[in-house]
Amino acid sequence: MSPRLILNSYAKLNLYLAVLGRRRDNYHNLNTVFERISLADRIVLSPRRDDKIRIITASCDIPKDNTNLAFRAACLLKEVFGLDKGVDIKIHKRIPVGSGMGGGSSNAASVLMGLNKLWRLNLNPEKLAGLARKIGSDVPFFVYNHPFAQGLSRGDKIRPIRQLFKLRLWHILVIPKIKVSTPLIYKKWDEHSGLTKPRQDVKILLSALRKKDTSLVSSLLFNDLEQITSGLYPEVKQVKKTLSRSGLESTLMSGSGPAVFGFLASRKEAATLCKQLKAKKRSWRVFVAHTI
Ligand code: C5P
Repeated sequence: MSPRLILNSYAKLNLYLAVLGRRRDNYHNLNTVFERISLADRIVLSPRRDDKIRIITASCDIPKDNTNLAFRAACLLKEVFGLDKGVDIKIHKRIPVGSGMGGGSSNAASVLMGLNKLWRLNLNPEKLAGLARKIGSDVPFFVYNHPFAQGLSRGDKIRPIRQLFKLRLWHILVIPKIKVSTPLIYKKWDEHSGLTKPRQDVKILLSALRKKDTSLVSSLLFNDLEQITSGLYPEVKQVKKTLSRSGLESTLMSGSGPAVFGFLASRKEAATLCKQLKAKKRSWRVFVAHTI
């Protein structure tokens, strides 16, 4: 049997998320910019002697059945390639569940990429992305294995943002203790779509990323869903207000929330703020993370 495989399953932030309209399939067309960040779950894939797929985790927040996206990813590969293989998928959760940072989608992508190796399927990123989009809109971004990418269509059509030199952004992440339902936020967007703020230009943001102009990037952050989620959950506004009082002018909610992030100049500045925030509000989960 092949040896086990250990993978980092990274989180994402949306630096930009414009909702362009509802589609016939009830999803929404998006124009979004993803950043992969260092906050990660740890996934261990161990081949089994039988053909079963099993999720093993100490986290009470994630399901162990076929509603788990990592479980679904393994089932999909077995089904598509007619395999009778089995695997134990151990998940050490660090990315807060249902926070808007794509933890479940990233876990699914890690399983696709890991089993691609373990089961010697030799699928290229395009083939993996084709399978990934069947699992969820955010899954393809992670299989492209790129620090920054633009997401179009449902957010599943990925254009990696290539840079001459590596850009590392430092972030503070704050997640208030609330559960947000993504379908509900999109439903509310349908009802309020006329009320969204004028948008920043994604082209300027993409050019700022390519030029490594961090302060310009942070001034162009935009998310159409922020107004909706913060209207329903005042905690999101409270996080933003607290960050603003700490000197962070430009902050943004990621995805459908409730995670809020801001930019800092260095690891040291981010760590200092992280300590202050943790002491101030014990129910918030606070992390330092960087582009990876
Ligand atoms: O694709 P995923 O399963 O992650 O999406 C979760 C929910 O978010 C969908 O059921 C849909 O309600 C909403 N969604 C959407 N348009 C997108 C992505 C997600 O309406 N582009």
